[in-house]
Amino acid sequence: MSDNQKQLAGEAAALRVEPGMVVGLGTGSTAAWFVKALAARDLSDLRCVPTSEKTADLARELGLPLAALDDVSRIDLTVDGADEVGPGLALIKGGGAALLREKLVWEASDRCIVIADAAKVVPVLGAFPLPIEVVAFGHRSTANRIMDVLTDHDIAMPARLRQADRGVVRTDGGNVIYDAKCQAIHDPVRLADDLKLITGVVEHGLFLDLADEAIIGDDGGVRTLLP
Ligand code: 5RP
Repeated sequence: MSDNQKQLAGEAAALRVEPGMVVGLGTGSTAAWFVKALAARDLSDLRCVPTSEKTADLARELGLPLAALDDVSRIDLTVDGADEVGPGLALIKGGGAALLREKLVWEASDRCIVIADAAKVVPVLGAFPLPIEVVAFGHRSTANRIMDVLTDHDIAMPARLRQADRGVVRTDGGNVIYDAKCQAIHDPVRLADDLKLITGVVEHGLFLDLADEAIIGDDGGVRTLLP
């Protein structure tokens, strides 16, 4: 069911793209539906900036013309998924470990549309563990300072180093990720600021004031949300 909702959202977002645009391509299963629907439209003169190696591979396979972020002066529209969509379109992202490149691409974009299935819309951010990207050198020491900040925000659960079958997960930039089980983030702006002040933290998955619109796949259709 959620996969169908993701597909509906991805396809609806692809209709927002016009010929000649520079388009940011998000990462994750919902963004993949967007990439497939965009390729199927076969629009002329597109340039696509991928937010991960995985998305770049998919886009290349589908024949979409790729460009690096530094090859374009500006991105017209970025479409990407999210792990949680909260009030005011505050987001948690990074479940797919692409948060750093995603945020760089989002911030270079004139317009950002987040696409998601209905279960991602939440009244308070934090049930989904907040991804925090950390430089690999000394990451356990950085994690201790992350814990101090979390404690200051009344978050008691330790942040966990992300592991996969093959061991510690590395991002496309070679960093590691700590996932912080926050349960409820009552002051996302202050938490975002406090995390960014820690040396060794490269980026976190709080995307605040970045999404211009959400397209949410629901049973039988899509609905749009504005900040
Ligand atoms: C990747 C992301 C994804 O957009 C997020 O994890 C949602 O993924 P999916 O569409 O597979 O549910 O932030 O870093």
